[in-house]
Order: sequence, then structure tokens, then C-alpha cells
Amino acid sequence: MDFKSVTLGQAGLANLSADALLVVVAGTTMPQDVDAAVAGVLKDAVKNGDLELKVGRALYVHRPAELKAQRLVLAVAADDSAKSFKSAATAGIAAVKGLGVAHLAVAQVGTARLTEAHAEALAMAVAESVYVYRHTKPSAPAAPRLAKPTLACGKADATAVTVGLRRGAALASGVEVARECANRPGNHATPTFLAEQAKTLAKQHGFKVQVLDHAAVKKLGMGSFMAVAQGSEEPLKFIVLQYQGAAKTEAPVVLVGKGITFDTGGISIKPAPEMDEMKFDMSGAASVLGTFKALGELKPRVNVVGLIPACENMPSGTAIKPGDVVKSMSGQTIEILNTDAEGRLILCDALTYAERFKPAAVIDIATLTGACVIALGHHHSGLFTPDDELAEELLQAAKRGLDPAWRMPLDEEYGEGLKSNFADMGNVAGRAGGSITAAMFLKKFTARYRWAHLDIAGTAWKSGAQKGATGRPVALLTHYLLSQAR
Ligand code: BES
Ligand code: MN
Ligand code: ZN
Repeated sequence: MDFKSVTLGQAGLANLSADALLVVVAGTTMPQDVDAAVAGVLKDAVKNGDLELKVGRALYVHRPAELKAQRLVLAVAADDSAKSFKSAATAGIAAVKGLGVAHLAVAQVGTARLTEAHAEALAMAVAESVYVYRHTKPSAPAAPRLAKPTLACGKADATAVTVGLRRGAALASGVEVARECANRPGNHATPTFLAEQAKTLAKQHGFKVQVLDHAAVKKLGMGSFMAVAQGSEEPLKFIVLQYQGAAKTEAPVVLVGKGITFDTGGISIKPAPEMDEMKFDMSGAASVLGTFKALGELKPRVNVVGLIPACENMPSGTAIKPGDVVKSMSGQTIEILNTDAEGRLILCDALTYAERFKPAAVIDIATLTGACVIALGHHHSGLFTPDDELAEELLQAAKRGLDPAWRMPLDEEYGEGLKSNFADMGNVAGRAGGSITAAMFLKKFTARYRWAHLDIAGTAWKSGAQKGATGRPVALLTHYLLSQAR
């Protein structure tokens, strides 16, 4: 989507022509210096009890006499931060959804300035609000066609707003790629489909792409990855995407996305309720594809490699069984005590493969454990890394992208439970601290570089009536990569 900024002249908001003008009121006290035309409506609405200055409140006004705009929406934000601006904008957009609005203009009143972060947040909010999944439900109402949503600002903020809108639009198209991929059902979004998506992106943006099949993966010795795939009729794929934005000699950041296109649990089969949601078990892979989309649009000076091990986890006569021992690409052997702990089995070989790029850092992204959902719920992604500096950089990126993450511990003691009498390690420990022991398993394959792991089991999709992919953590990852650009 294309966004633009307009600088407000003397005439102010009254003269802004739009199908709808969304005005974010920054803060829960009556703001000073509000544009006269809007101030009238705002004060009257508050006085008559139609709008409370409380977070999340919004009021729709049809054909306001004082304004050129056909519709006015007032939306209250907690304060003047970009985060609050985004929530208020989302509430305001909801108030005009389904109406005949093609051109939306947005402004903020009060003394608050608009920054890059505000503009970026608005672009994200608009794109997120109008997204509709239609691929297997073409009868769903099409996305409202918003032509060039506009952010109105003062002259002093114009440059920041333009930069922020551009970045926000790129992030939003990355998020959309991730949502669209992850929302597709398991019989559509197969490993082969993910490989095709990667090839399409590569063609669009000039990335290098390579898709390894069973024979190639076997030659590399990825015994752990192959073991997960062996119960399925769907051929596995190992996808390698490369974006070169800096000199060839610059060490790349490697992103590794879990690409389980459906997770039944295998022989350690999952219970039936909500099993359909295991189509989202490739959300890590989807976030890598989405991040590459954003890279393609923003072209930062950084080198990035995307690795996606993709396969299904199925029970069958050829499937792995509890107690089976496999040899990973690293040479370490693994006793598969639970076939449902398959994510770590495919990631470990991808992490070993990552060594060949002599990476500046490796970040894996995975819907790895139900335990992470219990620990952190659906707000923060779990961040695991032994590297304090990398943790800080990623937490900063999470803040900037409004895509929160929370650092979890990784003390050696948590690795105790992974011991096995029959292999170098088991693939599960006890139930306690399940997201941490999973990360400890991955850590055994990351000795040769700086590494972080993001467990997105609680944040990659929503359940219930709003069921669908969120596109997280594309914003976090993209902001991290932008911070690494020179
Ligand atoms: N894909 C699941 C994790 C998951 C479960 C994500 C529920 C989101 C919601 C993963 O492959 C898995 O099954 N993990 C097991 C690990 C256990 C067997 C140690 C889990 O979390 O139960
Ligand atoms: Mn599983
Ligand atoms: Zn899984």
C-alpha cells in the first residue's frame, strides 16, 4: 500500500479533504492547541458524554459541518507514544471499516509531535486492519480499497513522517507475506509451496535462492531433519535465500525459520482439539519470507541469509518412533523420546548448516513449544540467547517494531534433563521449563557463532473467532537487520 504525508498549512484540518479524517487525541486530558474545527466537535462530544477521554474510546461523526472531510473519527490514545498512536489508530480504523471510505486521512491533536515511529506505526495499523484472508475463501469481503492513506503533520515533522511511512509500508508488506503464507491450510502450504514462495520473492527482488531436496540433504548428513520428514508423503525442502545489501566480505546475519507445514505430533500424536492450528507450525519460516520481502523493499546495507527446513510431521509406517536414535549433521546423536518435539530436530541441522556462512549472528524463529505459551502468553515472544549484547539489540528491535519479546534464562542447569543413555542427548527433558530446555537443546548446535532463538508459539497466530496469523515477528527481525546496516 502506498502512503503519503501532507503538511498542514494555515487552514489546518478543516480544509483537509478526505472521505474520512481520523483524529488521534494524544492523552486522556483535554488537549490544548487543538485545530479549531476539530476542537469544537471534540469539546462538545466530551461535554455531552458522547466521548470519554479514556484509552480505546472512539467516536464517529457523520458529515461534520465544520470540516471538509466527509466523516470524522475521534480516537483516544493513552499518551503521545507511537505504540498508543497505533492502538488508537486501529480503533479509529475499525469505526470506518465497511463504510464507503476510499481516502483516509489521519492526524494527531494535542501538542505531541509526530515521529518516524508514529508514521511507521500508522502504516502498519492500516495494513493490518484491512488485510483479509481470501485464498481459500474467495467469498470473504474483499479488503477495503484505501487509496493512499494520508498522514497530516506539521512542517517540522514532514521528513520524519515520510521516512516512517515508507518503512512502515515495507514492514507491512513483509507482515502480509508472512500472514498470507501462514494462513494457508496444510494441504496448500506444503514444503514445495514454501520453496515456490521463496523463488517468487527471489525473482521479484533479486535474491539468490537454492532449494535442496531429499538427496542433497542426505548428502549433507542432515539425519535429524530427514528423520522428521520420513513419515510423510510430502517431499521435504531445505530453502536457502540470500540477500546481499553490503560488500560480499561482510559477514551475514542468518535467519533460520521452522517450516513444519503440519505438526500432527507424529507417533507421539497430538490430541484432536485445535490440532488444525498446527498448520501454523511454519510461522517461523513465514516470518523469514516476510522479512525478506521487507528487505527487498528497503534494501538496507546488510547481508542476510534465510534458511528454512520444511517438512510435515506425520505418523505412518515409515515414521520415526520414540526411542529411535538419529545422527545430526553436527555428528551428535539424538534419542527421539517424543516425536512431537520435532521442531528442534529440523532446526538443529539448519543451525549446523548455518556455520558455512561464517555468520555475524544466527537467529532462529520457531513455534517451538506450548510451554512458551504458558510462560509468556500471547503478548511477548520468548527470546533465548547466552549473548547479552545480542539480547539487548533484539529487545531494542522489538521495542522499535512494537513487536515485543521477553528474555528468558538459559543457565547450564536447564540442560540436565536432556541426557540420554543411548545417544549424545535426548530430544526432550521433563515438563518443567519446557521452552527453556528446548532452547538448551538448540544451543548444543550453536557453539561456532553468536546465536539467539525466538519462540513465537504464543505470538505467531491468534485462536478463536479471530483465528489467523499475525505476521510476527517480521517487524522485530526487520528492525534488527536495519540496526545492523552500515
Ligand atoms: N509446534 C509445537 C509447539 C506448539 C504447541 C506451538 C502448541 C503452539 C501451540 C511443537 O512441535 C511441539 O509439539 N512441542 C511440544 C514439545 C514437547 C513434546 C516437549 C509441546 O510443546 O508440547
Ligand atoms: Mn510438535
Ligand atoms: Zn511443531
